[in-house]
Amino acid sequence: MGNTQENLQSAFAGESQANRKYLFFAEKAEKEGHPQIARLFRAVAEAETVHAYNHLEAMGGIGSTKDNLMAAISGEEYEFKEMYPEFTRQAASEKNMEARTSFEYAIGVEKIHHDLYQKALKDLEAGEQLKDEPYFICPVCGYTVAGEAPKHCPMCGAPGSQFKRVE
Ligand code: FE2
Ligand code: FE2
Ligand code: FE2
Repeated sequence: MGNTQENLQSAFAGESQANRKYLFFAEKAEKEGHPQIARLFRAVAEAETVHAYNHLEAMGGIGSTKDNLMAAISGEEYEFKEMYPEFTRQAASEKNMEARTSFEYAIGVEKIHHDLYQKALKDLEAGEQLKDEPYFICPVCGYTVAGEAPKHCPMCGAPGSQFKRVE
């Protein structure tokens, strides 16, 4: 066991993963015709989100929006510059093509996230508001774009009509 700061980090990671996992499990339960089990997964997922929030708050992980943008920029940068390239090489050397594709999608998209956050930080520092517009997300690779969905995803080719709109 580490010190409390380390324990908060790992508890935050675990609760965050549980939240996501339960939401995916809920989708699967819906598809398999178990709506109440799906609801249970969604309910517990919501509770794990409360735990995740409390842990992150307790470790001082939520700052001002400027601080949060800086934290987000460095996280995305680490992912697309160091973590995913290394993971991709490893997956290729193990001939795990599904993992390789999954990592490659993430490399490209984290770079875009990094750039979107950087632009937001720049505008914030200049005292300007970002343009009021929705974002569109590719359901296959996570490609993220402001304004409107493209005809086809430039990263993976999925049709733009399937993009998820974020208000
Ligand atoms: Fe929990
Ligand atoms: Fe990202
Ligand atoms: Fe895509």
